[in-house]
Amino acid sequence: MEGMKYLYELCERLPRCGPGDNKSTRRAFNTIPKPPKEPYILDIGCGTGMQAIELAKISNGKIIALDNYQGFLDILMKKAAKEGFDENIIPKKISMLEMDFAPGSFDIVWSEGALYFMGFQNGLRQCRQLLKDNGYLAVTELVYITPNPPTPVVQYLESEYPDIKDVKGRIDLIRNEGFHLLSNFTLPESSWLDNYYLPMEKELPRLIKKYQNNQVALGIFEFFQNEVDSYKKYSKYYGYEFFVMQKK
Ligand SMILES: C[S@@+](CC[C@H](N)C(=O)[O-])C[C@H]1O[C@@H](n2cnc3c(N)ncnc32)[C@H](O)[C@@H]1O
Repeated sequence: MEGMKYLYELCERLPRCGPGDNKSTRRAFNTIPKPPKEPYILDIGCGTGMQAIELAKISNGKIIALDNYQGFLDILMKKAAKEGFDENIIPKKISMLEMDFAPGSFDIVWSEGALYFMGFQNGLRQCRQLLKDNGYLAVTELVYITPNPPTPVVQYLESEYPDIKDVKGRIDLIRNEGFHLLSNFTLPESSWLDNYYLPMEKELPRLIKKYQNNQVALGIFEFFQNEVDSYKKYSKYYGYEFFVMQKK
């Protein structure tokens, strides 16, 4: 996409590149009944890595932090070094569509706000293959959180993400794809606002000024401002759901 560099410039300045927070990462991890003592974890679409660093802190494991943008991985490793966890994290720049790990490599696969780039169903299948027997998968995914959302909400969301479903729709798919669901919960609104949309709203005016004659950049920033505005208007109808599951 032509505007990717502007998207990256915006996201590099934010605490994270999508909705989420450490408390939710920890809550999801704690629903894994018996994680191995030193689990081998893959974090798909890690971005600047808030959740990868949190996983390093709570799991005592090794984390492969995978993203297709080197700039995010560099920021992640700087942050990890600052917190003393860089030895636990191995950055890997590769597309999630071209992963080259052997089947059955990982104890845990993690992906916050990124599995949809593979398509949710395809993502479940790819992750299942990468997991050891009885391994765990934890993902967040955009869902409807109330029944019968109003038409403008459905129109908006389906134009952004045509495959969006409700929580039950995702749980049915998870079970059909050979997983046992361990837990699921909706991320609080603060996960959208505190680490993502509010810092984004602070950055946007500066970037809009910097690129005032660049229509591509302005288009990207307008897209994100619309996203923030829509969330503020419609947040009771949609959200991110954390799903933690075990390979059967
Ligand atoms: C919404 S962000 C989420 C980042 C992080 N997990 C978080 O919650 O802050 C999605 C991430 O997926 C990455 N991504 C997008 N397409 C990808 C692909 N094909 N392969 C690997 N990473 C990809 C982006 O660079 C970005 O870091």
